[in-house]
Amino acid sequence: MTFGQRFARFTTDVVVRHPGLWRFFRGPLRREFDRLAPRWDSLRGPDSLAPLEAVLDRLETPPQRVLDLGTGTGIAARLVGSRYPEADVVGVDVAERMLDEARRLTDSQRITYRQADAERLPFDRGSFDLVTLNNMIPFFDELARVTTSNGHVAVAFTAGAETPIYVRPERLRSELSRRGFAEFAEVSAGRGTALLARRS
Ligand SMILES: C[S@@+](CC[C@H](N)C(=O)[O-])C[C@H]1O[C@@H](n2cnc3c(N)ncnc32)[C@H](O)[C@@H]1O
Repeated sequence: MTFGQRFARFTTDVVVRHPGLWRFFRGPLRREFDRLAPRWDSLRGPDSLAPLEAVLDRLETPPQRVLDLGTGTGIAARLVGSRYPEADVVGVDVAERMLDEARRLTDSQRITYRQADAERLPFDRGSFDLVTLNNMIPFFDELARVTTSNGHVAVAFTAGAETPIYVRPERLRSELSRRGFAEFAEVSAGRGTALLARRS
């Protein structure tokens, strides 16, 4: 791993255990992703969306309102937008230059982008029936707050445990269970892994 990737892993490990420490990491991580934004898509492997696609295959009902957290250049937001033609999709990121790229690459009016922090989202309780995270640090309290009853959260890691931003499935399950999620499904696809959970 590069220094930047090791920093992303360290940040993930700390913040998942102690979300209150995110305030010390927000600035450096945002600067790192702003720096990477112009070449972010060239760093991606060919099957990087395979885990997210595989876990979305488990959804029985198409979502109507989707939030893609840590959207970066919007690749997962666009995937969801094309899979679910009736859905409105919001991609959120702290890094404005990532969002510049996302807007440039998106031609659907159903997909919009907003700069915001996943730790404190500018959305009402129960606003979304699907929340996706592709290689993104989960902030579990906010995930539970913005996901509607019977809605789903999909958490995917492109390269499984080798992904710089990675959380083990046991940890995902325990944090999500404590906040009212159940009916977990785990998949492996391409080089990666993903987990789906339903909010009761
Ligand atoms: C590893 S990148 C993944 C980008 C995209 N999901 C993809 O798969 O290409 C992580 C993204 O999450 C964003 N991010 C990290 N922490 C965040 C937070 N607390 N709130 C919003 N975005 C965040 C970063 O700026 C970065 O764009």
